[in-house]
Amino acid sequence: MANIVLVGAQWGDEGKGKIIDVLTGTSQIVVRSQGGNNAGHTIVHGGHKYVLHLIPSGILRPGKVCVIGNGVVIDPVALVKEIEGLRSQGIPVEKNLLISDCAHLVLPYHRLIDERREQLKGSQKLGTTKRGIGPAYGDKAARTGLRMSDLMQPTVFSAKLKARIKENNQILGTFGTKPISFRQVETAYLQAAETLRPFVINTVVYLHNALAARKKILFEGAQGTFLDLDHGTYPYVTSSNTTAGGACTGSGVPPHRVEEVMGVMKAYTTRVGEGPFPSENQTITDMLHGMGREFGATTGRARRCGWFDAVATHFATMVNGIDSLAVTNLDGLDTVERIKICVAYKLDGATVDVPPSDHQAFARCEPVYEEMPGWLVPTDKARRYEDLPVAARRYLQRLCKLTGAKLGIVSVGPRRSQTILV
Ligand code: GDP
Ligand code: IMO
Ligand code: MG
Repeated sequence: MANIVLVGAQWGDEGKGKIIDVLTGTSQIVVRSQGGNNAGHTIVHGGHKYVLHLIPSGILRPGKVCVIGNGVVIDPVALVKEIEGLRSQGIPVEKNLLISDCAHLVLPYHRLIDERREQLKGSQKLGTTKRGIGPAYGDKAARTGLRMSDLMQPTVFSAKLKARIKENNQILGTFGTKPISFRQVETAYLQAAETLRPFVINTVVYLHNALAARKKILFEGAQGTFLDLDHGTYPYVTSSNTTAGGACTGSGVPPHRVEEVMGVMKAYTTRVGEGPFPSENQTITDMLHGMGREFGATTGRARRCGWFDAVATHFATMVNGIDSLAVTNLDGLDTVERIKICVAYKLDGATVDVPPSDHQAFARCEPVYEEMPGWLVPTDKARRYEDLPVAARRYLQRLCKLTGAKLGIVSVGPRRSQTILV
């Protein structure tokens, strides 16, 4: 097994959590390197469903080390809740969780500013998860953020927090939002700090020692390529680099130690939140929602659904350097007679085969489709590639050809066992 960076090749929720849980079987360490608790990674195993927001999806496997890297933004109170939730489900984290001392903190004013900005935007809103992610990364870039190392020193933390709350209360005041109580935040955060203290270390040094000891690392991407702050459908994006490069800056592991990039994509496309989505389709949306599928793991919002967009995934292969693909949710198309694939866009009368950089142009793109026959039999019991119907195999091969990477994994259900290693 190589050191693998696993990225979402679409708009998030591709099934990264499930694939990480599968791949962790043959790795020793799983690292989250960007995003925060805007992520919701679902694992279904042993009759239980686990939704992880900040803790890497390797946590269900005893003996694997899960690292929250320096590039992640952490809401300490939410993280403690997540740890307690896992403990109550019989998953201990004591021996296998590590948290970077450089990770930035999400504070209550970040959440309030996130929410208020969305309200003020009205119909132009981004549809954020309201977890304070944008304002927290904003503070990081503006060098006004607080980090895990600050939280580990109560006196230092309190002094910095006081100053930050003073400034942010002024901002909240101009928004017409009630001021935040310094004491309340201080108490809640210092309490969370004591639960988190045993896990906080210099994770960069830990990872380099692990590499020297030839341990294998899996980098668990959060969100997806088109939510990347630089390469996504800006401004309808999240505030971190969700593409492969983010794994290096967000963990301190250099690029040449990454041996493979795997892209996860659904056999169709989904998006939650606002922004361009050329292959969005109401029939597919209704069908998947009717099956009880495609409701957000973090906010519960109904996801927008559409046909597979090969223009988007081809770009994702380029920008991430994707070597192999994990195609999930193939079973979602089991009942579709004629399956469409978006192979180009029509933009202002011209045909284009790359997503426009400008979101307004992107929003004007009309999908150009090719069609393939469906397989019309259940695939959820397939365990080998040969078990899949011929039409499904043809569809998968077509997705890979158009996307430009080889097929590595096919997922035909949410459970660990419902996975085909090609
Ligand atoms: P992530 O954010 O990329 O980890 O994906 P989410 O967990 O937010 O959303 C993926 C959803 O699809 C979850 O409900 C998974 O349990 C589910 N899932 C993943 N792979 C498959 C699959 O192959 N078939 C089915 N039916 N569900 C899947
Ligand atoms: P996982 O890791 C899908 C979307 C939000 C919104 C935009 C900005 O589970 O794939 P933010 O709260 O980050 O400022 O919201 O990004 N978004 C996601 N969509 N999956 C996610 O994570 C997401 N994380 C953020 O819906 O459109
Ligand atoms: Mg998700």
